[in-house]
Amino acid sequence: MSFNVAVAEKSGALSTTYVSYTPREVLTPTGIMRKSRKKTLYTIAACFVLGFILWTRYAAQFSEIALNSGKSNNKVAEKTASLISTGKPSVSMKYAKFFEGKDITKNGIFPLPERRKMIPQRPANSDIPLRFYKSEPGSNPHDYEYLLNPYDICASEEEVFLLVMIASASWEFERRKLIRDTWASQQAQGQAIKYVFFVGNDNKPKNRIKLKEEFKEFNDLVLQDFDETYRNLTLKTIGQLKWGTHFCPNMRFALHIDDDVFGQVNDIVSYLLGIKASRYLGCSKVFHPIVRREGKWDMSREDYPGEQYPLGCVGWCFAMSRDVMNELYYMALDTPLIHLEDVSTTGILREKIGITGVTKMPGDEKWCQHLGWPKDKPVEQKLFESWQSYSNAQL
Ligand SMILES: *[C@@H]1O[C@H](CO)[C@@H](O)[C@H](O)[C@H]1NC(C)=O
Repeated sequence: MSFNVAVAEKSGALSTTYVSYTPREVLTPTGIMRKSRKKTLYTIAACFVLGFILWTRYAAQFSEIALNSGKSNNKVAEKTASLISTGKPSVSMKYAKFFEGKDITKNGIFPLPERRKMIPQRPANSDIPLRFYKSEPGSNPHDYEYLLNPYDICASEEEVFLLVMIASASWEFERRKLIRDTWASQQAQGQAIKYVFFVGNDNKPKNRIKLKEEFKEFNDLVLQDFDETYRNLTLKTIGQLKWGTHFCPNMRFALHIDDDVFGQVNDIVSYLLGIKASRYLGCSKVFHPIVRREGKWDMSREDYPGEQYPLGCVGWCFAMSRDVMNELYYMALDTPLIHLEDVSTTGILREKIGITGVTKMPGDEKWCQHLGWPKDKPVEQKLFESWQSYSNAQL
């Protein structure tokens, strides 16, 4: 049997061409039956094949779980479990076992780390004025809203060995891009390292849009709702301590670093791997500054009624263990802050939590190269050059 089938020509809908078409099979009632039986058989066969494929896949995963019931395979385990129970991955599958039973929210991962009861310390020879010991508990709540918050990035790991908290200015888009492509790409020796940028609010709608886009693309940016000013840098540092405490409870160490510093993270990690103490604070550079009443580092007598600041880390780079980070944060809630963020954090708060003296990290400040001064070249250019010579030296 043959039909004439009309085929509209592509070019002109007006003319119609007829071509001869012969169907392969004539559809009689028995033919249709035969066809559908065939279909059923094919379907059953396909199901068997699919079932076999799935079985081999998950059987492999099950035996893997059985073999490695330890923590290393919990990701696979969770993934498999959720696939089996619901047929498709559930939202919680990406979280590591450490976070089982925890409530992962944009306001924190609950329960929050416990605040250890401690009496603020003041060594006999302390440089710190009594003012910093007299304020009401909770007088400094640091409750700035998170406008952007990659709140669950630590939850994908069983342990984050190093949380790198980069203090950046909201408008430094290019610099952050460069940092991501250079030194913040270091992933030392199979340790989980997370890089997070911290910025304040410059109240510019254009920048806000760009920050949102950046956040969507990289999910590594915390935007907190306080004014992005030089004098608010202390808030940024306290904000880092808070964020680490609330959203990264599975970290070993944190590194506070500025965005005009070149960080040799692999070297820092190698060094920190050897530190077993649970309380550790290490500075790239130690200082013991005197109080200035004018200039860039001016300080009012009201804010700091003394002539000498305590010993501390220079603010552009210091490392701390999780315990120290939590304690510094909680102590900050009860302590008046001054606008010098390094003195505030690694001087005053450090002494109050009972860490006497400061440790200098090795590396001759090479592990954290400050590129802000002199201002002979743009920081971006120096960052790039440092990265080039560093990565060439690694080859
Ligand atoms: C710091 O930020 C707060 C909150 O946005 C703002 O009220 C304050 O004026 C800022 N302080 C300075 C010194 O910029």
